[in-house]
Amino acid sequence: MRFTNKTALVTGGGGGIGSATVERLASEGATVYLMDKDANQVAETQKGLKAKGMVVNAVVGDVTQLGELQNIYDLIAQENEGVDIVVNVAGGSRAGYVTTLDPDDWDELYALNLKSTINSCRLAVEQMTREGRGSIVNMSSISGLRGDPGWAAYNSQKAAIINFTECLAWEVGQYGIRANAVCPGPIASKRMISTLPAGGGFQDAYNEACAIGRMGQPEEVAASIAFLASEDASFVTGAHLVIDGGLTARTGQPIVPPTGDN
Ligand SMILES: NC(=O)c1ccc[n+]([C@@H]2O[C@H](COP(=O)([O-])OP(=O)(O)OC[C@H]3O[C@@H](n4cnc5c(N)ncnc54)[C@H](O)[C@@H]3O)[C@@H](O)[C@H]2O)c1
Repeated sequence: MRFTNKTALVTGGGGGIGSATVERLASEGATVYLMDKDANQVAETQKGLKAKGMVVNAVVGDVTQLGELQNIYDLIAQENEGVDIVVNVAGGSRAGYVTTLDPDDWDELYALNLKSTINSCRLAVEQMTREGRGSIVNMSSISGLRGDPGWAAYNSQKAAIINFTECLAWEVGQYGIRANAVCPGPIASKRMISTLPAGGGFQDAYNEACAIGRMGQPEEVAASIAFLASEDASFVTGAHLVIDGGLTARTGQPIVPPTGDN
């Protein structure tokens, strides 16, 4: 029960990793607010948690709209002493080559992944500074650590989230606020699995790409987020925690088995 008397906001809290994070924080005692633009997901998450005896505050809202973000922060401030934990999970991707991805798609993805994270952090810091404490966890990805053909928009925005989080950590450390990022590898959320073309062997390929031999589960990311959000990570700030079953621990070179001559 690391989050008793703590108030938390999880954006994208109706999705795979988001709802697992909501559940983890609530199960450890937090008063959790979730914000998600998908009304069905919001209702489903709330219902699922209620069945497990957890009450969460769920709001349908779009993180790309500053006014809607402001509303949820205002609501939290009205109903509590402010927010202690903010987890910015909302995000999404669209594939497209640098030369062919529509400029409007770049803007849309930028607004969703990066600008919404920045705006949410600005509002979080305003409240947390008043309280002199807080922990922010931003959602990056292993895609923010390396390049992939066809994914420049998503990857570069997730990379920017890491650097933004490092800058933020240095700006707010003096006020008792910590800011960290997480970099999940392939996580078998419903959405992730649904985007894999059927019959292409992609799930097997993802499993094999991990040293652990399988994709991760949303709950495994939620556990790492909960660690960073908690006092167990009291000296951890400006970090990005890789949660990828070892995927990026490999160079990617062809594996030439040892023969004794090489
Ligand atoms: N699944 C993976 O393999 C993986 C790996 C690395 C990083 N991530 C990141 O983790 C996050 C969650 O991924 P997921 O797999 O759980 O996906 P998901 O689609 O299940 O969750 C994303 C949630 O964000 C919500 N959302 C989207 N746009 C929004 C907006 N404008 N305002 C409010 N809510 C919005 C969606 O409705 C959805 O519920 C994303 O940021 C993703 O980039 C996922």
